[in-house]
Amino acid sequence: MIPPDIAQEAAALREQLRRHAHLYYVLDAPELPDAEYDRLFRRLEAIEAEHPVLRTADSPTQRVGGKVLEGFVRVRHRVPMLSIRTETDITAGGAIAFDARVRRELGLTAEAPPVGYVCELKFDGLAVNLRYEEGVLVQAATRGDGEIGEDVTQNMRTVQQIPLRLQGATVPPVVEVRGEVYMRRDDFERLNARQRERIAAGQKNEKVFVNPRNAAAGAVRQLDPAIAAARPLSFFAYGLGEVTPASEGGPDHATQFDWLQQFDAWGFPVAAQTRRALGAMELIAFHESVARQRDTLPYDIDGVVYKVDSVELQRRLGFVSREPRWAVAHKYPAQEQLTTVQAIEVQVGRTGKLTPVAKLAPVFVGGVTVTNATLHNEDEARRKDVRVGDTVIIRRAGDVIPEVVGVLPASLAKPAEERGAVFAMPHRCPVCGSDAVREEGEVDWRCSGGLFCAAQRKEAILHFAARRAVDIEGLGDRLVEQLVDSQLIRTLPDLYRLGLVTLAGLERMAGKSAGNLVAALEKSKRTTLPRFLFGLGIRHVGESTAKELARYFGKLDAVMDATEAQLLEVNDIGPVVAHSVRTFFDQPHNREVVEQLRACGLTWEEGEPAARTPKPLAGKTFVVTGTLPTLSRDDAKDRLEAAGAKVAGSVSRKTDYVVAGAEAGSKLAKAQALGIPILDEAGLLELLPGGLA
Ligand code: IVH
Repeated sequence: MIPPDIAQEAAALREQLRRHAHLYYVLDAPELPDAEYDRLFRRLEAIEAEHPVLRTADSPTQRVGGKVLEGFVRVRHRVPMLSIRTETDITAGGAIAFDARVRRELGLTAEAPPVGYVCELKFDGLAVNLRYEEGVLVQAATRGDGEIGEDVTQNMRTVQQIPLRLQGATVPPVVEVRGEVYMRRDDFERLNARQRERIAAGQKNEKVFVNPRNAAAGAVRQLDPAIAAARPLSFFAYGLGEVTPASEGGPDHATQFDWLQQFDAWGFPVAAQTRRALGAMELIAFHESVARQRDTLPYDIDGVVYKVDSVELQRRLGFVSREPRWAVAHKYPAQEQLTTVQAIEVQVGRTGKLTPVAKLAPVFVGGVTVTNATLHNEDEARRKDVRVGDTVIIRRAGDVIPEVVGVLPASLAKPAEERGAVFAMPHRCPVCGSDAVREEGEVDWRCSGGLFCAAQRKEAILHFAARRAVDIEGLGDRLVEQLVDSQLIRTLPDLYRLGLVTLAGLERMAGKSAGNLVAALEKSKRTTLPRFLFGLGIRHVGESTAKELARYFGKLDAVMDATEAQLLEVNDIGPVVAHSVRTFFDQPHNREVVEQLRACGLTWEEGEPAARTPKPLAGKTFVVTGTLPTLSRDDAKDRLEAAGAKVAGSVSRKTDYVVAGAEAGSKLAKAQALGIPILDEAGLLELLPGGLA
């Protein structure tokens, strides 16, 4: 008798697995991390093993591989594309078990010499078969279900790393090279950044990809080759399909390693980590050495693959149910896992950037236990709609900080009253209470209490002490670190209150260097107004803006009390900078620090205010798009703002002029549609004071 609840569980698992397999293989839009899918799959396998009557013919366990997508021409593989067995034991035991199995199946005694293997990386992408006739790429196909795949020749022709023609002298009449199409992590980040921009610009059918593998799969199976071409893909070769036999003039290689070298000679990328190994111990050494490199590789791998090197031994070993007995995947801890959100906090970085961070129930992901994951910024947190109590997918890949990929649809589907509150970014710095500001066109909120905020202390002191600011010689990274960590200084004025005795008492601080520092501090007190202003670290106030401010206002108090309108009168200062200066001096804590610095004896010569500069474009809004012949887009923006104009990122009815250069795209089209005047560079220069200067 089978307990009814077990039968029910099996049925539910079958249904769940079918749905998730469809999302993964057909729609390229998985909802679950692979590790979670694998867990459900193994649970079903275990139930079926214990109660074989529950193993229905249509159970997901009875099928390997994916499905063929509608819309592509089908390709029958001349040599089936096998799948690969995964060792369940991810410790060193996995390698030992594989080697023992191979030896047993080959009938080797304990005394027989070790078996030769090739160790490869297990790339996390999509397997493709590339067919070359007379050395020319004639067809590329996905693996599909192993028997029938999809014809993706057009898309694969756009992958730079796939040779369109084989290099070298050995060109067989027919050869099929197999390998993995994948996306590098940096390419993935860039692609997603672009996708986010598109979504922000209102393009409805664009989406953000959950991971590089998913993005690669989407690109390979993209029906429009132009879109596929715009998605950056890479390739590694690792296997052979059909090939003209040696007797008919085909290449002949006795080992997998020699084949890999042949692929390399033909012009395919082959992973540099690939090694030969003798026996289980060398497999383990490879597994461990790659584990140490995993985080720094530029692409994702989910494990390593061991293959019996000798082609003759491979033939003798054969395969069972589409899995070769001569190869195995030995995995690493999964890089995506499920966990729950316990709180959402906002952290303040060294430069004042506010980052929402999800506090998590501890979860083991990518080889470490994770309790915090970044939500990046306000827009991302909103887009993902993460709330306290939600089940989320956490991803930790490479040496990047763990991130929340998304909320499990089951959590999203709950009624609002059963979910936590929608995340809202605080408008005050959670560390120091100063105003938090998000500038137009920026994704990040920032604390404006730079001089006072504990999170920004070290950065503020280093910046103030820099050579081009008040120049405190000898006050570098390490010392600032030491002074702040030992709580000797909290804000800038504390620096000037440090005595020789305190300093000389510091670890690694010899009497002489303490004396030098005191002298340097003393010397720094006589400074100039531009250096002092620059040293305050006001956002957007670089050296040249500080000079302009000093020249225009003459005195510090005049700068501190200037209205935004007055600030806009200054050369090179536009609305963003004006607002930033105003907000900075609106923070009582910042002003306090400035007063204390003056009280500590910092002095400079003050002057008279300068004459007014004209602001001919005050009140006008511009959009700059495309490539201008001589001005960079930043230059154009700076000069427009200096002339009083506002420069916006997108075209709307409020736009007064659009400045368009070469390859201007949708913004130009929109301006034309709205009838907004369009200027070229020459037209822009005519409007600017000083013209070409
Ligand atoms: S060999 C002999 N080698 O893993 C079996 N596969 O589950 C044929 N993969 O579909 C595969 N890196 O997408 C092989 N170095 C590697 C691989 C690799 C990644 C993928 C491939 C395949 C899947 C097998």
